[in-house]
Amino acid sequence: MKSSIDSFNKYVMGTYGRYDIVLDKGKEETVTDDYGKKYIDFGSGIGTNSLGFGYPAWTESVISQIKKLQHTSNYYYTEVQGEFAKRLCEISGYKNVFFGNSGAEANECAIKIARKYSFDKYGADSKRYEIITLQQSFHGRTVTTLSATGQESMHNYFFPFTPGFVHITPDIRAFEAALTDKTCAIMLEFIQGEGGVINLTEEFVKGVFDICKERDILVIADEVQTGCGRTGKFLASQNYGVKPDITTLAKAIAGGLPMGACLADEKCAEVLGRGDHGSTFGGNPVCSAGGNAVIKTISAPGFLDEVIKKGDYFREKLGKFDAVEDITGLALMIGIKFKDGINAADISKKCHDNGLLVLTAKDKLRFLPPLTITYDEIDAGLAILDKVLLQEN
Ligand SMILES: Cc1ncc(COP(=O)(O)O)c(C=O)c1O
Repeated sequence: MKSSIDSFNKYVMGTYGRYDIVLDKGKEETVTDDYGKKYIDFGSGIGTNSLGFGYPAWTESVISQIKKLQHTSNYYYTEVQGEFAKRLCEISGYKNVFFGNSGAEANECAIKIARKYSFDKYGADSKRYEIITLQQSFHGRTVTTLSATGQESMHNYFFPFTPGFVHITPDIRAFEAALTDKTCAIMLEFIQGEGGVINLTEEFVKGVFDICKERDILVIADEVQTGCGRTGKFLASQNYGVKPDITTLAKAIAGGLPMGACLADEKCAEVLGRGDHGSTFGGNPVCSAGGNAVIKTISAPGFLDEVIKKGDYFREKLGKFDAVEDITGLALMIGIKFKDGINAADISKKCHDNGLLVLTAKDKLRFLPPLTITYDEIDAGLAILDKVLLQEN
């Protein structure tokens, strides 16, 4: 509604480009605006509503927790946070976890662990604090995670940025050239999401892991967007057959409630001790209850196999569209590059007009649908995209 948009814009800082749509309520993989118009959701709130809207087991878990205890602070233990940590470690194979509330916070924690690991082991004089990241990466909006982010356009206004980050192309020779005695870690996304749904090659990943192992350099995987089943495995790293020292998660992890997690393996699990890090809301009981429902659901037999099948189904259908030049990503993380002359941002706008929520990433259209999307919904959503593309010609 025009008046509520005007009021919103008057009182909320203008940091986002928004569609002129006021979303009102959601059910499963469909959301309705304040005029009652329905949209199929191929965006899931940027890969966050992993089980769609109002998934019964998730809703039940969250509501029963909110009735019991909504917050305690981390001066106390709660069963629900402990259960969530256990589930996360068991499903991912990591030793322990720190909980924050967002992807940026999960990455801040990873950066602190990486630097302290070297501080403890090599001493302050070694100045072993440099972290290599990739060009086109996206790691968050805090000053330090912006420094980590390898996009020049984001290194503006907020000077001075946190020193100690080096950005390279995903090329093993570039990695070797960037290594110095000060390097303590590399941080990477296996599939760059915001950077344009760009998959790292297996060759690069393997090369990085071999060198890091040899030189005691930590590998941090930012799986904020790729994690929690999006690529058909719980972690995208499992598709590459590697285990990073640290993995960060957020977005999908609690099914749409604020949650970030920094998972550490044996090498890094004891690096942060009492007082080294913290977060008032981190591991909040209600969000943890949402997280428990997500992990229980996606670890049910066959669930992730279905994610892979649905990803294949999307790709097979998209491959038949004349306008599509290339499809990137993995399983239900989908980047679509159109042929010359077709602008992804325009297509996105028209999809919205026609009842389909989609995302863009650089010059691509991007789909991050709920993992629970059905084949009928995929068909219906792609029929909208087809109609929009036909209008382009
Ligand atoms: C790979 C990656 N890392 C970090 C972030 C930042 O997450 P948040 O916005 O929850 O801080 C994002 C957000 O898009 C992301 O895609």
